[in-house]
Amino acid sequence: MTTDYGPLELLIGRWEGDAGLDVAPEPAGEVHNPYRETIEFCAIGDVTNAGHQTLAAVQYRQRVSRLSDGKVFHDESGYWMWDAERQRIMQSLVIPRGVCLLAGGHVENTEDGVRLQVAAGNGEWGIVQSPFMHEHARTCRFEHWIEVGGDRLSYAETTIIEVYGRRFVHTDRNELSRDRH
Ligand code: HEM
Repeated sequence: MTTDYGPLELLIGRWEGDAGLDVAPEPAGEVHNPYRETIEFCAIGDVTNAGHQTLAAVQYRQRVSRLSDGKVFHDESGYWMWDAERQRIMQSLVIPRGVCLLAGGHVENTEDGVRLQVAAGNGEWGIVQSPFMHEHARTCRFEHWIEVGGDRLSYAETTIIEVYGRRFVHTDRNELSRDRH
């Protein structure tokens, strides 16, 4: 049987966008980084858990570079998973700072596609980080939505970090187009 990717089907492919805006912490305040990025979503099939949960999975890789100097300053990979029976989605992600998480949520239909919405750090869905990050730059909460329809994808994510002796709201958002090449 072929895999039913449900709402994740709309993500599959390669996306590009150069209208990103990152707001990140600095010791004395915050820095705003306009960015461009590519995100590639690959269909990788399905798995069965405990004999009665089937998850369809899409693996992704996101590479983000600063517009000012072209430097890649964020590299992230993970999976989006769809549980058709329970109508639930999950996103796992890992970033090479020693931080990973598993966020859970739901899907809504939009005019021309879907809105995927997940969160972690709320008691139910977890964040795992190195002892260093736990002590000095702790990720406490993560919220993320993606809207996708046709050849357009937009997202916003909010990561709450305890760093430099305060609670910082680290945000990222962008609009991407499907790369047809
Ligand atoms: C487009 C996505 C993202 C971009 C462009 C981005 C960019 C940045 C930047 C510029 C910094 C400041 C430190 C530095 O100069 O490297 C930073 C810090 C950090 N980010 Fe992100 N970030 C993104 C997403 C995320 C996500 C999804 C998480 C975790 C769920 C995360 C967690 C952190 C943490 C823990 C820090 C450390 C705080 C510090 O020491 O400054 N970021 N990020």
